[in-house]
Amino acid sequence: MAIRNILTGGDPTLGKKSREIKDFGGRLHELLDDMRETMTQANGLGLAAPQVGVLRRAALIIHIDMESEDYEEKIIELINPKIIAKSGTQEASEGCLSIPGVYGIVCRPELVKLKAQDRFGNPFEIMCKGVSARAACHEIDHLDGIVFTSIAERILTEEELDMLHAEKKRQQEPEAED
Ligand code: CO
Repeated sequence: MAIRNILTGGDPTLGKKSREIKDFGGRLHELLDDMRETMTQANGLGLAAPQVGVLRRAALIIHIDMESEDYEEKIIELINPKIIAKSGTQEASEGCLSIPGVYGIVCRPELVKLKAQDRFGNPFEIMCKGVSARAACHEIDHLDGIVFTSIAERILTEEELDMLHAEKKRQQEPEAED
């Protein structure tokens, strides 16, 4: 495994649409392993392949199992993901590992049902709620060349950012960046 460089700012790759994955071999597995290490090291809630310069439809998200007793968290690999159902809305601040230090208010569904494939090509469906639904929508946007700043209702001011950071510190939570 290796940590890959995360593209930032105005890199043109971030604005391009990623292609469907048809080859589920070793190269994909290596990409996913590297993405997992890269995302974990950067404290992200999600990461999409184009963020590491690969224009293929692969993404990782932190999935929080709301059914489990202790809200078990795990990283889910999503290959060729599609949103097949959604409901509700949530409005909250959102960030991105590719746009460090910037947060914006983005309206997302509260609940999304995804259809995707695993690293071996096996299809599966998964329900994502709250933060996981937000991460899933954010990462699928990356696969379509959309960064959150282009769809945010507004970008947080310096003052709001200070408040957000103070609140995060209090909660002793990792930075919420996708
Ligand atoms: Co992002």
